[in-house]
Amino acid sequence: MRSLAEIVLEAESTLSVIDDLALLEQAKAKYLGKTGELTEHMKGLGKVSAEDRPRLGQEINLAKEKIESVLNAQRDSIQQRKLASKLAEEAIDVTLPGRGRSRGGIHPVIRTWQRVEEIFRSIGFDVADGPEIETDWFNFTALNQPDNHPARSMHDTFYVESESEEPLLLRTHTSPMQVRYARMHKPPIKVIAPGKTYRVDSDATHSPMFHQVEGLWIADNISFADLKGVYTDFLRQFFETDDLEVRFRPSFFPFTEPSAEIDMRFGSGPLKGRWLEISGSGQVHPTVVRNYGLDPEQYIGFAFGSGLERLTMLRYGIGDLRLFYEGDLRFLKQFA
Ligand code: FA5
Ligand code: MG
Repeated sequence: MRSLAEIVLEAESTLSVIDDLALLEQAKAKYLGKTGELTEHMKGLGKVSAEDRPRLGQEINLAKEKIESVLNAQRDSIQQRKLASKLAEEAIDVTLPGRGRSRGGIHPVIRTWQRVEEIFRSIGFDVADGPEIETDWFNFTALNQPDNHPARSMHDTFYVESESEEPLLLRTHTSPMQVRYARMHKPPIKVIAPGKTYRVDSDATHSPMFHQVEGLWIADNISFADLKGVYTDFLRQFFETDDLEVRFRPSFFPFTEPSAEIDMRFGSGPLKGRWLEISGSGQVHPTVVRNYGLDPEQYIGFAFGSGLERLTMLRYGIGDLRLFYEGDLRFLKQFA
């Protein structure tokens, strides 16, 4: 058995260099554990004479206290170091500037959408919403465009795989909403239906996803003259001026007769002076009125489908509608 002095000396020098709590506890066992060296000394006390016992007992206790005090000091220092390194790791430089959060703005096309709703609501139109994935029947057939109708090829679109018999597609215009709405409401019918539409198109005035607003007014005596009146009035409110160059150009749609396309002349921007088509329109075809579930002898009216990007281009003098979808903040911030 080694002497107490020897044990204490060794304990002090080994324990004071350990820098890990688990290793420190392991090392402690060597001196103070059940089979530790000091414990062995304690066990030996029984064999010592009663005279020597108190002195020896005191010496062992003293040795034990010394080792324990080294242990405690070492434990503290390990914990201190741990805390300091954690604090250093997680340090926050409070003098750095904040990240900041800039304010978003409403997209110019959505701003147009909102204005169109506001204007038509003010003259008594309801606002309706419908599916962007549409059935072939609502998008084409109900609008007097059966399967092999040549007008379908002008509306090349994206077909959606479906389990059902009925082919599904991304709607090419908002006109299916005429039929959906009219089948659910009693005349007089006076509604607009704005929303997203899709075609295989892409150039300065066409994008594959764009927005249209459908308008429909059906009653017992609504004429093409009403279309001109309502639409011209809408344009005056939308552009906030009476000084507009608008033309109703004869055209063809299977679902209207007669039909017209509506053009407007740019008053500003790179296309200043150029005409731009903003809308299709016409007197609803009797076959379509029948598909509304109504008698075409009794009900008559007009419909239009206008491009919201086109209206926005004309309002701000923008020459290329692709700018709306490039997400360039320098462009978009001008409208915020
Ligand atoms: C139609 O879509 C008809 N459904 C409009 C209509 C409704 C006629 C009711 C009669 C009665 P058209 O294909 O011309 O027609 O499109 C209407 C408008 O949508 C265009 O005048 C244009 O403003 C806009 N438009 C069409 N294709 C695109 C496109 N790819 N990108 C942006 N705008 C488009
Ligand atoms: Mg057209």
